[in-house]
Amino acid sequence: MKKLMEQMAQELCAAFEKAGYDPAYGKVTASNRPDLCEFQCNGAMAGAKAYKKAPFMIADDVVACLGENSMFSMTEVVKPGFINLKVKEELLADYLEEMSADEKLSVTAAETPKTIIIDYGGPNVAKPLHVGHLRSAIIGESIKRIGRYVGHKMIGDVHLGDWGLQMGLIITELRHRKPELVYFDESFTGEYPKEAPFTISELEEIYPCASGKSKSDEAYRNEALEATHLLQQGNRGYMALWNHIMQVSVTDLKRNYDNLNVSFDLWKKESDAQPYIPDMVNMMKDQGFAYEDQGALVVDVKEEQDTKEIPPCMLLKSDGASLYTTTDLATIVERVKLFDPDEILYVVDKRQELHFIQVFRCARKTGLVKDDLKFSFLGFGTMNGKDGKPFKTREGGVMRLENLIADITEEMYRKIVENRSVKDKDADETAKIVGLSAIKYGDLSNQATKDYVFDVDRFTSFEGNTGPYILYTIVRIKSILNRYLEEGGNPEEGRILSAVNGSEKSLMLQLTGFGATVESAFEEKAPHKICAYIYEVSNAFNSFYHETKILSEENKEQKESFIKLLGLTKKVLETSIELLGFSAPDRM
Ligand code: ARG
Repeated sequence: MKKLMEQMAQELCAAFEKAGYDPAYGKVTASNRPDLCEFQCNGAMAGAKAYKKAPFMIADDVVACLGENSMFSMTEVVKPGFINLKVKEELLADYLEEMSADEKLSVTAAETPKTIIIDYGGPNVAKPLHVGHLRSAIIGESIKRIGRYVGHKMIGDVHLGDWGLQMGLIITELRHRKPELVYFDESFTGEYPKEAPFTISELEEIYPCASGKSKSDEAYRNEALEATHLLQQGNRGYMALWNHIMQVSVTDLKRNYDNLNVSFDLWKKESDAQPYIPDMVNMMKDQGFAYEDQGALVVDVKEEQDTKEIPPCMLLKSDGASLYTTTDLATIVERVKLFDPDEILYVVDKRQELHFIQVFRCARKTGLVKDDLKFSFLGFGTMNGKDGKPFKTREGGVMRLENLIADITEEMYRKIVENRSVKDKDADETAKIVGLSAIKYGDLSNQATKDYVFDVDRFTSFEGNTGPYILYTIVRIKSILNRYLEEGGNPEEGRILSAVNGSEKSLMLQLTGFGATVESAFEEKAPHKICAYIYEVSNAFNSFYHETKILSEENKEQKESFIKLLGLTKKVLETSIELLGFSAPDRM
């Protein structure tokens, strides 16, 4: 369906043309002076220079050509040359009626659906999921959902970190603790045990212990480097250990992501790229891209227009071991081979930007990808505590994601029980649902690239720009609709009529913005636009609710119209939070 703003622009373009101007000036935007108008067109200002005419003269001509138009209840020229517009009530009502029936609520599906691999989550095996990985999961999941909604083929890949030094560290620590394990016996040729020689909690204790030791003990660190390298070369015992680590760890990760309402289409890992590395490296050598520099193998990726130094991309270390860059490049080779994507989007901490500049340039320069494959990097900022420093536990340690979720849920539970009369058994479940909205909305309502402060008190509040406030609004609508059903009403009956008051019209106008909001949230990879939008919709709805008697309305048609408008508001809000990655309870 054609969006309301597009329909208006069409009228304006025609009027510009009729008045003898370039129709391209007929663009319509939402008003930035809602006290004066609902929409505006600034084309006359833009055209003033080209036509050497005062903008208001152009605007006058255009408005004259608009004449008695079926769309607008007001067309007004305001100096220096704005065209202020108000839409006719009946038209607005009809538009919303059409939108209610539209499966996509007025979002236009992409003309040519693209295959987009979205690389997000990026946890490291054997390290507990901590808040550092939270943003990637939340933002990536939302962009994946938005992309799907606008019609693209989105393939979410968790891209597990399973091939780096952390594996060598764990193997080394295990070797120190349990040297008798058969995995370390080089002469062993039998079958390795099925059971892992550790539990998840042991694993989580082993990694930080090993990592600590490697920082102070050089011999230990070298052992771990050697173990990493042996693993990457396929050492049998180490591979068997790696398999155990993977199994134990992935089960735990999946459980954590489930709790976050985050899911991946692919559970690929860095090690899956290993088989592609030798051929890729040889190609880069043979074609003269890669050369040796102090023993390491590198590819230059600096470009003339660079304003800062972009160091060469390192492919192999002097001992022949591969690096983060190597697996990322080989993963591109694999992705191209398996999925032939149009775009690969990485949702990763912005501190890794340089790494991705190097990887993208190297992949292009060496011809790993076709020219029109698009690489995108969405680098997100840090989640800070109230002290402005990266979020930590009260004791100053790294906060585990599980604990963070538990803390929020507890706080939510307290607020729900305190404020509402939900029965206890519901309160538990409700606290989980609402708590997740607090975390996700708290994150997504900020522009992804910026740092933000994780403020438990603010995020869990039922008032203000928060997840719980949005859910509260949805629950309010649900409860009115339920009462209407209980009265014997049918929410499908009737149609949306012209607004009865200003607050109803404001709500109606807000609802028309859904399609453009979702489309631009995808274009700009900006879920925060959806948050800002639903906050406005919720505010508009709540004003309407306070000013209007809905269930006690006596005129049947009018009441049906209110109910249909509520139904549409609910659909818009529920679809939006679905795109953000959370849901609403039935009661709060
Ligand atoms: N595992 C990495 C980390 O924790 C993030 C992986 C991001 N994705 C990628 N293709 N490099 O830093």
